[in-house]
Amino acid sequence: MIDRVLRDTAERFGTPVYTYDLAELRRRSVDLRSSLPDFAGLYYSLKANPHPLVVAELRRAGCRAEVSSAGELGAALEAGHRPEDILYTGPGKSLTELTQALTEGVTTFSCESAAELRRLGLAAASARQRAKVLLRLQPPLGSKAGLSMGDGRQFGFTVEDALRACADLPAGVELRGCHVYLGSQLPDTDALLEAFARAKDTVELVSRAARTPLDVVDLGGGFPWPYATAGSGAELTGLRAGLDKLLSTWDTGPAPQVYFEAGRRLVASAGHLLTTVLDVKQRPEGTIVVLDAGINVLGGMSGLGRVLRPAAGFENLSAGDDREPVTADVVGPLCTPLDRLSVRATLPQPREGDLLSVPNVGAYGLTASLTRFLSRPPVTEVVHDGGRLIGASRQVLTTEDVSPAAG
Ligand SMILES: Cc1ncc(COP(=O)(O)O)c(C=O)c1O
Repeated sequence: MIDRVLRDTAERFGTPVYTYDLAELRRRSVDLRSSLPDFAGLYYSLKANPHPLVVAELRRAGCRAEVSSAGELGAALEAGHRPEDILYTGPGKSLTELTQALTEGVTTFSCESAAELRRLGLAAASARQRAKVLLRLQPPLGSKAGLSMGDGRQFGFTVEDALRACADLPAGVELRGCHVYLGSQLPDTDALLEAFARAKDTVELVSRAARTPLDVVDLGGGFPWPYATAGSGAELTGLRAGLDKLLSTWDTGPAPQVYFEAGRRLVASAGHLLTTVLDVKQRPEGTIVVLDAGINVLGGMSGLGRVLRPAAGFENLSAGDDREPVTADVVGPLCTPLDRLSVRATLPQPREGDLLSVPNVGAYGLTASLTRFLSRPPVTEVVHDGGRLIGASRQVLTTEDVSPAAG
């Protein structure tokens, strides 16, 4: 069924085109929630995919919104989230951004430094609101995350700095608890449980030393799912039971309200990218396949070699099983050698005009791509629900003249 939906979408809207399936989002959210204790809340991290229809579906499925920019806040509000349920995160929030968020009704912020706490105090005064704060703590060293947020990275307070901050909170800022995010792509239940246990230890250490009660603790996430290749994330068997045990006692007092955060585990599998083969070149060094989708559309950060190796996997929706597999470098249409989606991929011999599909790109697909690079036209995003078309849109960039003469 899904192949038919993908083919119809490509025919109707052209390529490159993204599709997101709301029915798959609901399945993934039921699945993840069943791996977590009933008492825990779950935030959806909009950085994975801020499409308003995606965000709205996850809101209906019971996820709150975790945002880390004014744009993501706008998407969460457009999707119907109540501002007071939103968590605003990120390592560099400006005074303007904080004031705007407070003015729009956001009350809870994850704060990452003493300077940011000061700015939040100023923003609270100017918006005439009180701000609730979770201190983001540096996770302990040695995380097993595929993409670590600890280990000396820029995020959060060290324990010492957090203790100093607790003793010197600005007026208008109320400390509610702590936030720890160890990193993404923790491989399995054991790694997740170990990470959450270490996060809990750090949170308890700060709470005890600073003599502050913990009302709210956000233990982060790191739930695994493949990126742009076929397959699914490790089953999280035993996670719920392990967390029930871990979170049953707190040596800081009554149990806080615990939250987790997830992006890719909720949305990756709902997304496919459809792309057309423009050219196939046979070279002595191997085959090169040129697509109409490049790092402007998918995996821009990996294209620059910054995060992931280019290793997208492709299904050929035009070819039967009879085509011989070939090993090829799969590249995009951009005029730069960095535009590679896959190095030495194996796929059925592609031909000009074939329709290819990349699975598991509902997270960090378009949103993590170099959309402005080489000024290609914006890509269409098509949302369906088990095959029923719900909406199709394109995000268009415009230029605003902000020179003094324009005012
Ligand atoms: C603070 C925070 N929360 C949640 C996420 C979502 O991660 P994932 O999509 O791997 O679940 C990230 C990813 O960078 C993050 O930095």
